[in-house]
Amino acid sequence: MRFGHFDDERREYVIHRPDTPHPWINYLGSEDFVGLISNTGGGYAFYRDARLRRLTRYRYNDVPVDENGRYIYLRDNKNGEYWSPSWQPTRRRLEGYSCRHGLGYTVIGSTHAGIEAETTYFVPLDEALEIWSMRITNRRTAPAALSLFSAVEFCFWNALDDATNFQRNLNIGEVAVEAGVIVHKTEYRERRDHFATFACSEPLAGFETQRDAFLGAYRGWSEPLAVERGATTDTIGVGGCPVGVHHVRLDLRAGESKRVIFVLGYHENPAAESGGATLDAGVVRKTIRRYFQPDVVDEALNRLRDAWDRRLSALQVRTPEPDVDRMVNTWTPYQCAVAFSVSRSASRYESGIGRGIGFRDANQDLLGCVHMMPDRARARILDLASAQLVSGGAYHQYQPLTRRGNDEIGSGFNDDPLWLILSAAAYIKETGDWEVLEERVAYGDEPRTAEPLYEHLVRAADYTLARLGPHGLPLIGRADWNDCLNLNSHSTDPDEPFQTAPIRDGGTAESVFIAGLFCLAGEELEGIASRIGDGTTASRLRSAVVGMRTAVAEHGWDGGWFLRAYDARGDKLGSRENDEGRIFVEPQGICPMAGIGIEDGKADTALDAVGRELLTDHGILLLQPAYTTYRLNLGEISSYPPGYKENGSVFCHTNPWVVIAACRLGRAEEAWDYALRINPARREEISEVHECEPYVYAQTIVGRDAEDHGRARNSWLTGTASWAYVATTQWILGIRPTFDGLEIDPCVPAGVREYRVSRRFRGATYDILIENPDGATGGVRKIRIDGERFDGSVLPVFEDGKTHDVTVTLGGPS
Ligand code: GLC
Ligand code: GLC
Repeated sequence: MRFGHFDDERREYVIHRPDTPHPWINYLGSEDFVGLISNTGGGYAFYRDARLRRLTRYRYNDVPVDENGRYIYLRDNKNGEYWSPSWQPTRRRLEGYSCRHGLGYTVIGSTHAGIEAETTYFVPLDEALEIWSMRITNRRTAPAALSLFSAVEFCFWNALDDATNFQRNLNIGEVAVEAGVIVHKTEYRERRDHFATFACSEPLAGFETQRDAFLGAYRGWSEPLAVERGATTDTIGVGGCPVGVHHVRLDLRAGESKRVIFVLGYHENPAAESGGATLDAGVVRKTIRRYFQPDVVDEALNRLRDAWDRRLSALQVRTPEPDVDRMVNTWTPYQCAVAFSVSRSASRYESGIGRGIGFRDANQDLLGCVHMMPDRARARILDLASAQLVSGGAYHQYQPLTRRGNDEIGSGFNDDPLWLILSAAAYIKETGDWEVLEERVAYGDEPRTAEPLYEHLVRAADYTLARLGPHGLPLIGRADWNDCLNLNSHSTDPDEPFQTAPIRDGGTAESVFIAGLFCLAGEELEGIASRIGDGTTASRLRSAVVGMRTAVAEHGWDGGWFLRAYDARGDKLGSRENDEGRIFVEPQGICPMAGIGIEDGKADTALDAVGRELLTDHGILLLQPAYTTYRLNLGEISSYPPGYKENGSVFCHTNPWVVIAACRLGRAEEAWDYALRINPARREEISEVHECEPYVYAQTIVGRDAEDHGRARNSWLTGTASWAYVATTQWILGIRPTFDGLEIDPCVPAGVREYRVSRRFRGATYDILIENPDGATGGVRKIRIDGERFDGSVLPVFEDGKTHDVTVTLGGPS
């Protein structure tokens, strides 16, 4: 069952009914000012840091689900009836409800009692504010006397304090109303140099600044007293819970239409002017006023749409499969950009409080965006390098605002540093910017020691080599990619978070996954080292990779598939010897990706096992069978009920690894099939099962060990997006940046007889037509560039600003 449809032309997902199985959200703004908005107007806004600069309140774990939001109420002043045109919070019956989630904007519209209302929410480029642009039309045959109320509840900036420290919070709230602009200025008198404003383009009939005054005692957002009464109290509250509410009266003739614009903004004054200075919303009034003009708003929205079109034009495809096209052309790069910006901080599932920028997460998110935003990727790589430690290890997380590593969680996730090599390599392959390697970056724990990025990368590789276990495989430390494989904590204390529980003994538990990742990253770094003339490091890495492959072959192979790990007692995990958790997906993906087991058939055997043991209609399971009891030696993974999260769900992030592995082995039909099974657009028709948004990947889909097999959770902020993008564009469609040029190496089902890829790469556009007349599944027979025969499969770097026509014929060399 569908709840909406894709409008591919406009790059929008159009939701037809408000009661989606779960709130289906979108992001407004993806750089400094960020807003989350659901299909019924729920969500909140923050500036740069979801924890420290939260503008408006949102209640996680909320009842009714998805409160609060950007609320609008319309009231018919004749009979006192009122409703919300975005359905929430009043949830009255609406006609013609629709929500269009677009790239960086959302439009929600409906009609009730002959009054049509449509609101466009977006954050203009380079502004720290969001616009709610409304059009209200009287479709009745008689005039309508209406009241319009807008409502936001302000957050006291620090979202954690805001939700916990009430003895202080209920006494600190301060607001002002200056020339019709509601100013939220809590703590501005002392150490803060920032404040928020909420403004309306129309003359006000009234305003409200206190939640209690607006809602009335013991009432919820669905039945505010002020709206019921049709009048606000127009008082400035101190303490309590500050809100911004505008009341506007609208008298509309039959057929008349009116635009009303709200602007919610964040402002910082230069430090010198803050700290006790009087607040003057006048400094920002000019900007706000500009956006009161409908043509300025429309123009800003057009600029936003153009910016996205430009970004996305870096890679566009036309294949025979619409669900592939809509994900690759629009939604997946969009999701990658959002994940790149907010990492794992703020979504419906991430409260914006717990996690800052994750080291491994951010490095992986970058893989799906680097072609669209190379400058931001470059800056991010350098930020990440500064969260690295002198040991070569890394802080697991850092706060975006301070760029400081997060001490609370610390380091010791032994896979972390290797991901930096992958992201740096991807950046150089995309841009050819070798100079980035010379950028000097200080270490997180040694701010006075700055070294070129290249040295950071070498230290990252050496970190693994300095931590090998009894079988010559990398020690896992706190955990590897699988955050829940806590082989060294043996935690019995429910008050001890798995992520920070002390490591009891770190010297035995080894990870086959890190071994695979090391080979992948080691080869990349070897490629870099040899190209910059550091032959010594190159050959050192080459032999380390060979050694690691041997260790995997000898100690990381279980006969039918790759083992997952050795625990702290040296016992195997992910082995046929185990009663549960006999096979894990991660090493079956990463090892072949790194070229392990390709020559001797192990990789093929491992993929056969994946197909046999782990494949479901809803994707590939993380492990089988799921753990049914808590296992001290494994930790958090066995704390989830069977089929959920790391304990045997389809943990989508891993699926594209298997797709890439399949491509490396030429298993084209399988790669295509596996990619489609988790493709959210393909799952649109089972939305009542999947429950999450059909336009973005989710982190997990409940596995077959559980009743609700197929139900997705934790959508949006997941490394699935970038890996799915890399797997589809670089490995299936086979357009792959390399250090030396754009490689063409498709791996498509025989039925794909033709497709097109337009790729902007190092200053030129490659207009690529791939023809497959004989139904091959790979192999390049012939390439023509601008009509001329070209030998080889790596297209040259033109850097000439021109468009080049490339025709590729598949079917093996002729
Ligand atoms: C989450 C984390 C990621 C981790 C994965 C598997 O997605 O953000 O860092 O690798 O879970 O545990
Ligand atoms: C939990 C989750 C895992 C996530 C980790 C990060 O362990 O299961 O997916 O990576 O938390 O905090």
